Amino acid sequence: MIIIKSPREVELIREAARVVAKMFDKVEPYIKPGVSTKYLNDLCDKFIREEGAIPSELGYYGYPASICASVNEVILHGIPSERQILQDGDIISIDVTALKNGYMGDACRTFPVGICGERQLKMIAIARECFDNAVALVKPGVHLGDVCHAMEATAAKYGCSVPREYTGHGIGASMHEDPYIPCYGKPGTGPILREGMTICIEPMIMEHKNAVRVLKDGWTVVAKDGGLTSHYENTIVVTKDGYEILSKVD
Ligand code: MF3
Ligand code: CO
Ligand code: CO
Repeated sequence: MIIIKSPREVELIREAARVVAKMFDKVEPYIKPGVSTKYLNDLCDKFIREEGAIPSELGYYGYPASICASVNEVILHGIPSERQILQDGDIISIDVTALKNGYMGDACRTFPVGICGERQLKMIAIARECFDNAVALVKPGVHLGDVCHAMEATAAKYGCSVPREYTGHGIGASMHEDPYIPCYGKPGTGPILREGMTICIEPMIMEHKNAVRVLKDGWTVVAKDGGLTSHYENTIVVTKDGYEILSKVD
């Protein structure tokens, strides 16, 4: 069931999503060669709490950290670790959900570490372009399948693929709500978007084939072929004539 939010609820989701956007601005200068992903986890945790919010990934189905920090071939749910030290030329996606006053905001960015090559920067740009092309279609009356299709079509333009096993989602008092929003779809199919829906569109991009593998820790998802991956996500609301990005700093 897709929950339509009242303007008051949208305002609360906006506040939670803004915490995450602000956190990215604060943490970005610290993303450089030599720092551990655990160090970034602790910084993000602190920034979120300073805003009166809670990092709600911590403990979610037993997830052991406050952020997902996924480096290079790790596409999702990379567990921050003291032993994982960022190196020049890595790319890292940081995916964070914050809970504030009973509502969630969720966003993800992929950052370059130090000096990256063309190949790395291109992966980052493709995830962003997939998001931009998908969100541009969002308005009341549109089939969700149109939005989903735009992500895979954009990735395919660059010879990239999208995973089948993981999706975007509705968001509200819960981190994950209906509708589920795959990174691929068939135009003209799926639920119809309505004003007041709050959703997370989150293209996950794989450099080559879309086969994934979960590591023994039960969380870390990697590209089977070891190719690079990138991820970009915003929380948005469907408005009267389009959409508004909620995970932004104003
Ligand atoms: N923020 C993620 C999403 O985009 C969910 C994180 S899974 C967790 O849906 F286990 F880390 F919480
Ligand atoms: Co997320
Ligand atoms: Co999400």
